[in-house]
Amino acid sequence: MSKTPVKVAVTGAAGQIGYSLLFRIASGALFGPDTPVELRLLEITPALGALEGVVMELDDCAFPTLAGVEIGDDANTIFDGANLALLVGARPRTKGMERGDLLEANGAIFTGQGKALNDNAADDIRIGVTGNPANTNALIAMTNAPDIPRERFSALTRLDHNRAISQLAAKTGASVTDITKMTIWGNHSATQYPDIFHAEIAGKNAAEVVGDQSWIENDFIPTVAKRGAAIIEARGSSSAASAASATIDAARDWLTGSKKDDWVSMAVVSDGSYGVPEGLISSFPVTTSGGSWEIVQGLEIDDFSRTKIDASTAELAEERDAVKELGLI
Ligand code: NAD
Ligand code: LMR
Repeated sequence: MSKTPVKVAVTGAAGQIGYSLLFRIASGALFGPDTPVELRLLEITPALGALEGVVMELDDCAFPTLAGVEIGDDANTIFDGANLALLVGARPRTKGMERGDLLEANGAIFTGQGKALNDNAADDIRIGVTGNPANTNALIAMTNAPDIPRERFSALTRLDHNRAISQLAAKTGASVTDITKMTIWGNHSATQYPDIFHAEIAGKNAAEVVGDQSWIENDFIPTVAKRGAAIIEARGSSSAASAASATIDAARDWLTGSKKDDWVSMAVVSDGSYGVPEGLISSFPVTTSGGSWEIVQGLEIDDFSRTKIDASTAELAEERDAVKELGLI
């Protein structure tokens, strides 16, 4: 393995998601067994001690693909030369808290990190935001990084996408690998719209296979949209291993490409497609290849879907207006 290591920066590295994510990246889950990775891990100062413990564990795994680890509390240093930045560090939602409550607490983190990425990351940087409220945090980071092309930023809705596939597989008895063309529209929040009207199960239209509009409206959509809250209720803390897994899926597919005859859900900057206001970071069906993405065009949107997409993008517009008011963008 003589290749130059890919530099992957991860923020909030001593947190719950970090504890799963770092070991997956270090073991080659993102770039395969032949590409060395260097981990560059950002934490707040009080968490650096715990992070040192995590690094000891990374060392103890003796991963052949792990070329080095650097840790620190200065974003400028940690983002230096980064090719991929996974922005996980944020304050997670706790019981009873709405995601909107998090805007102010987390906004300041993403202004600083946007600027630090702008000034220090490698020219080919790609940035994936997992920390909530993920779409608006990505918008804040993007706005504070004017020299980085806007399409290099995305927010994670792959967990919702994976949840939707899993629910549909359980309902129909299909294997998850038979399900394609799933779409999450809008915000990574309870207003998101998981859309199976364009999804397919072994090539057949998923909504027709299900044949039960009531299940779609009253069971499937709320189960997927409120899954994060259900996990918080059950576990006492937010999803971690599944969020790390989705963060890997999203980054891997972005960099290496989505499957033929399929697409993935990613929250990316809107160009106005499907009536989503330009400039919002909203989830769309996208195809990816080599670090680029394209919104799938030409899908027919019926009145039911229109209402759902509009509700979630209205929430995104409200979040954007709130952070504008706070002077964060
Ligand atoms: P956690 O509290 O266990 O870890 C967060 C870590 O971030 C902490 O170690 C904290 O010290 C660190 N941190 C805080 N401010 C930081 C800063 N300025 N720079 C660097 N690090 C900082 O939380 P977690 O369970 O790992 O979740 C992380 C985030 O991911 C939360 O916002 C959570 O809501 C979100 N999340 C998103 C999804 C999704 O699908 N988009 C899914 C699950 C969780
Ligand atoms: C999730 O989807 O599991 C997380 O975003 C947690 C949350 O706050 O909903």
